[in-house]
Amino acid sequence: MRHQLIYTLFIVFVLTCIILITSILSTYGNLKYWNKKLHFNSLLTLGMHPHLKLGTVNLTDGVYTYNLNINEFWTEFPYLQSYQCSLKLTPHGQYEKMTTLPLLILAIKSHPAFSTRRAMLRQTWATEREVNGYWVKPIFLTAQADNPRQMELMKSESRKFGDILQWNFTESHHNLSLKERCFLEWLEYQIPWVEFIFKGDDDEYVNPYAVVKYIKEHGSSPVTLHGYLRPHSAVMRHTKYRISENLYPFHLFPDFLSGGGFLFPGHSVKKLYDASKKIPVFPLDDVYFGFLALAANLTFRHDERFHVYGLAYNVCRYQQALVVHGIGPERMMKIYNEVQKAKIRGSRVDQKSEPLFSVILHSGTSYGSLTTPVRPVASLEEEGSPPDLREPLAAPLDTTVGPFAPQFITPIIPKVEIIYHEKRQPSSGFQYWGK
Ligand SMILES: *[C@@H]1O[C@H](CO)[C@@H](O)[C@H](O)[C@H]1NC(C)=O
Ligand SMILES: *[C@@H]1O[C@H](CO)[C@@H](O)[C@H](O)[C@H]1NC(C)=O
Ligand SMILES: *[C@@H]1O[C@H](CO)[C@@H](O)[C@H](O)[C@H]1NC(C)=O
Ligand SMILES: *[C@@H]1O[C@H](CO)[C@@H](O)[C@H](O)[C@H]1NC(C)=O
Repeated sequence: MRHQLIYTLFIVFVLTCIILITSILSTYGNLKYWNKKLHFNSLLTLGMHPHLKLGTVNLTDGVYTYNLNINEFWTEFPYLQSYQCSLKLTPHGQYEKMTTLPLLILAIKSHPAFSTRRAMLRQTWATEREVNGYWVKPIFLTAQADNPRQMELMKSESRKFGDILQWNFTESHHNLSLKERCFLEWLEYQIPWVEFIFKGDDDEYVNPYAVVKYIKEHGSSPVTLHGYLRPHSAVMRHTKYRISENLYPFHLFPDFLSGGGFLFPGHSVKKLYDASKKIPVFPLDDVYFGFLALAANLTFRHDERFHVYGLAYNVCRYQQALVVHGIGPERMMKIYNEVQKAKIRGSRVDQKSEPLFSVILHSGTSYGSLTTPVRPVASLEEEGSPPDLREPLAAPLDTTVGPFAPQFITPIIPKVEIIYHEKRQPSSGFQYWGK
């Protein structure tokens, strides 16, 4: 009787010890060690992304404090918070074995429907190869489409080219933020040795030669992200990029790099990934990346050669450009070939196509007697007729600025300045947009 009791107590004691030791081990990092040994997919189903506790995350950049109320993120965007990254297709290629050359990943967000764009990119700048001492590997970041035919096509593209990374969430504007979070997770666990990552879209001209040159000149800091900086952008309450007051009551965002194309060092991946476990997923992907950078205490370097608002075609300027947004498949081949040819000839100045006009967008705000400077917030040069600015450049036009009560704020009507370069008619004028 007494022996039985002691025996039972002993068993209970041993079991408790086992449970305690396991939980201590998993808490202090060993789980991560074991996960690295596991197949990536099984790692993900273990639930590596811990559910955020409810409460408020407060981040500060020395100028403002940004409060992220996790409860509101769960209410409005539960899917973004709870999704556990699960892969359907993974890339393959020589980059997996490359150990001698530093690895540069060109990560290109793409929708399964845009197979024509991907095909054109593969024929131009998006091929796996060496570029001036770097091993360059393009990877398309994709999610699911409803169309089963497109999904089949993705599979065969992946078999053939090995450049597709695909998760099992559905493609959508807000779900793009999941590409950021899941891509960081993939980098951290699959290629922690990556040296640099360029992030862009499938409607862009990217110049791998210029990117490599840029990395050699400016890429020494492990904590600096590079791109076209959007300093303290105003929050929009109305357009496609609207954010509700409940989700984010503050009028400004922390600094972020325009999503049209930016560059970050492999050394920052772990910091960014760790940050992604502590803050809620913001429904705008470039702003989300800005929050991650802030939480990870990283810095930015702004450079004009990230032409996220487009650039009039000119061989010379395209040779210097790291990225140019808004180049469709029809123009890509011509541009790529001409820039390549010019490279072989040496950088001879070719001034054939001057832009016909530049567009500069100004915005500013006044509250009471205070007026924020009216500053150019975007500019763009084009050939031909002025483009419709509302979609890509709508960002700064929408809203009020500053930590002031809305009734004291009068947004200055944003100005669009168009400078014409035509020889016969040099003119400069303002055009106003009211609300
Ligand atoms: C964050 O800021 C809010 C509002 O200022 C405050 O109520 C909350 O306690 C802060 N949370 C933390 C974790 O500091
Ligand atoms: C994604 O895949 C995982 C694992 O197979 C599954 O548990 C999850 O429900 C899937 N999610 C979606 C949205 O299909
Ligand atoms: C995001 O993806 C999830 C999972 O596939 C889907 O349920 C959800 O509807 C998507 N969000 C939007 C806005 O389409
Ligand atoms: C953030 O980084 C800077 C250097 O870039 C450092 O001086 C500072 O201590 C860091 N802050 C935190 C909270 O880690």
